[in-house]
Amino acid sequence: MSHLSERPEKPVVGVPLPHESASLHVTGHALYTDDLVQRTKDVLHAYPVQVMKAHGRITKIDTKPALDVPGVVRVLTGADVPGLNDAGMKHDEPLFPDEVMFYGHAVAWVLGETLEAARLGAAAVEVELDELPAIVTVAEAIEAESFHGARPNMVTGDVDAGFAESEHVFEGEFTFAGQEHFYLETHAALAQVDENGQIFVQSSTQHPSETQEIIGHVLGIPSHEVTVQCLRMGGGFGGKEMQPHGFAAVAALGAKLTGRPVRFRLNRTQDLTMSGKRHGFHSSWKIGFDAEGRIQALDATLTADGGWSLDLSEPVLARALCHIDNTYWIPNARVAGRIAKTNTVSNTAFRGFGGPQGMLVIEDILGRVAPKLGLDAGELRKRNFYTPGQGQTTPYGQPVNHPERIAVTWQQVEENANIAERKREIAAFNAAHPNTKRGLAITGIKFGISFNLTAFNQGGALVLIYKDGSVLINHGGTEMGQGLHTKMLQVAATTLGIPLEKVRLAPTRTDKVPNTSATAASSGADLNGGAIKNACEQLRERLLQVAASQLGSSAADVRIVEGVARSLGSDKELAWDDLVRTAYFQRVQLSAAGYYRTEGLHWDAKSFRGSPFKYFAYGSAATEVEVDGFTGAYRIRRVDIVHDVGDSLSPMIDIGQVEGGFVQGAGWLTLEDLRWDTSDGPNRGRLQTQAASTYKLPSFSEMPEEFNVTLLENATEEGAVYGSKAVGEPPLMLAFSVREALRQAAAEFGPAGTSVDLASPATPEAVYWAVESARGAAKSTGGAELPADASALSHA
Ligand code: MTE
Ligand code: MOS
Repeated sequence: MSHLSERPEKPVVGVPLPHESASLHVTGHALYTDDLVQRTKDVLHAYPVQVMKAHGRITKIDTKPALDVPGVVRVLTGADVPGLNDAGMKHDEPLFPDEVMFYGHAVAWVLGETLEAARLGAAAVEVELDELPAIVTVAEAIEAESFHGARPNMVTGDVDAGFAESEHVFEGEFTFAGQEHFYLETHAALAQVDENGQIFVQSSTQHPSETQEIIGHVLGIPSHEVTVQCLRMGGGFGGKEMQPHGFAAVAALGAKLTGRPVRFRLNRTQDLTMSGKRHGFHSSWKIGFDAEGRIQALDATLTADGGWSLDLSEPVLARALCHIDNTYWIPNARVAGRIAKTNTVSNTAFRGFGGPQGMLVIEDILGRVAPKLGLDAGELRKRNFYTPGQGQTTPYGQPVNHPERIAVTWQQVEENANIAERKREIAAFNAAHPNTKRGLAITGIKFGISFNLTAFNQGGALVLIYKDGSVLINHGGTEMGQGLHTKMLQVAATTLGIPLEKVRLAPTRTDKVPNTSATAASSGADLNGGAIKNACEQLRERLLQVAASQLGSSAADVRIVEGVARSLGSDKELAWDDLVRTAYFQRVQLSAAGYYRTEGLHWDAKSFRGSPFKYFAYGSAATEVEVDGFTGAYRIRRVDIVHDVGDSLSPMIDIGQVEGGFVQGAGWLTLEDLRWDTSDGPNRGRLQTQAASTYKLPSFSEMPEEFNVTLLENATEEGAVYGSKAVGEPPLMLAFSVREALRQAAAEFGPAGTSVDLASPATPEAVYWAVESARGAAKSTGGAELPADASALSHA
């Protein structure tokens, strides 16, 4: 069998292809979970009974008034659960709770003949509770010492000695916001008892196997009685890694109890108020530098806002700690992590899975202290890059492979983006414009690929060849728009040596591939691609034997290229379809189960040390912004990216992922502003940004005016399928360059060397205050000339 990263002749991987469902997407023919309802008879609609208080013990649930509503069929409560009343893997997440833990918590579900009947029924259910005090923010949780889950500590080197040797020491704090996934398709499931008495659930889930497991727990039945299928998702972004389970279990419970199909689809406000988001964090830090600006020591505490239950907060926090170094070598570090327990939705996976939060902390520190060190921020960053050949390891002890790509992507960005010349142009522009300033910043990323928990790094596939030569592939990954299925078709066609048209893909189902991992951690293509390649290799080996006997040569000399088998040094040919047919008549097995596990990983969560990642993904981005000093409004003028995807499996897909990830990251860092009611009023704990009207998402007008994305060339990754690298999450963090460019532009309103603190998200309002503080620095130092209108703008 060939080496994992090696490509055969005329591979189908590496060919730029549109998404396999692109035409279905744009014509509206692609089916999503809730579209299947129209094809299903006698469906009941499930509607949640949400309690609009942030915290309280339930004293009474009266379902009778709901049953009087015409069309209401049943009300599901905790008493109906035959198995375990819990929706999470940590068993801290009652599906039907006794205690309301956040504003909008669903305590019962109503099943109705129509959605309207179910809605009216839900409104009629009477819930009484003894209200309890609610903790809404991370700051309040820290104050009250309200934490849950693990409290990891990552230690490397000798931090005290590092500080003792430091020339410059700085300290600070930084609180930054989370992010709403805002996938286009909200949470949805359709459950039914099939003709065989099994529970069959269609679910918009990134993790069908775990959805299956939770449904089994709730219903008190083994996994072989539950099948979960995911056709595709209209976006997941991590929000459907763990959150779908409980919802799907409610639908399954309803189907089991009524014998009828049950569907639910949250409306947008329900989805926003009931499902978890990216964790906001609080960080406090102390950092030491030598005289040249090289980091000597870092001491930090990161507190993630976990919300009411643990969900994925522990692994998210672990990834945050494992990414606080980003591209920088930190010889001495002590980083502590905590998870705040708050009365809000349970925060969860979101593209980057804590990595962005850890990296934001160090990028924010460097952006703030560079002026204080008298250094250009880009120069400070470069001085701290991991250096090749020095045997440097991350703070958790993993050697960094290919560290040269940090500097290589950075340098290519500098060249592609014409940085030196543009810096001069920007300086001239800024000198001529007192009330409009431009800023330019480059930032880089290093992102670890693999699940921290070693066991999750496995994948499975089932490949079937029918005797007409057509091929059907099944794998354990889910499609959420990221193009995994496109890549998997390309991998199968490449390994078998046949044209893409010969291969079709079946929907992801737990009865085809068992015990799958979530399609997450960007490792969908690595794990499932490895498994498909393995299955196809088994089939190819068998077919090569058949071809050899037909061509009169040895199997080792036969190649199948573009659907034709040939033997080296002979011009006899055997077409794929004939080869398959011959194999069938020779009674050669034409199906194979494939399996892949990532080798060489180890991780000890207790000591917080090991090599949890197969490799790192790298990239650099340069962003130029323009800020209006009167309002704080800004535009992204230009973005240049060089990103490392190894040897791309599917370049058009990968470029789409880089662009989409970047824009989503820019949304998190600049526009998307989750607001909770923190007052002591009756709506304490209410999410105030419950719709797209109040939660600003990036739209076309916030796109960079010029957006150049380049994939790093000749970047074969030795340890991964056909030399490729994961791409799903890493580019999100390239958006740090937007934030740093805004900081740079704000600083331009003050005297040279002004250090600017910037809130996150850096909304126009936040940028306005940053500009104001820079102008304030001008006043206090008396150094720079004040713009004529400065006093009119001052808010003091
Ligand atoms: N791209 C689209 N279009 N939609 C998504 O929901 N999710 C992201 C990323 N890209 C997502 C996406 C996240 S959070 C992850 S982990 C990866 O895709 C998962 O898919 P992969 O492992 O196949 O890259
Ligand atoms: Mo992605 S946050 O790992 O689903």
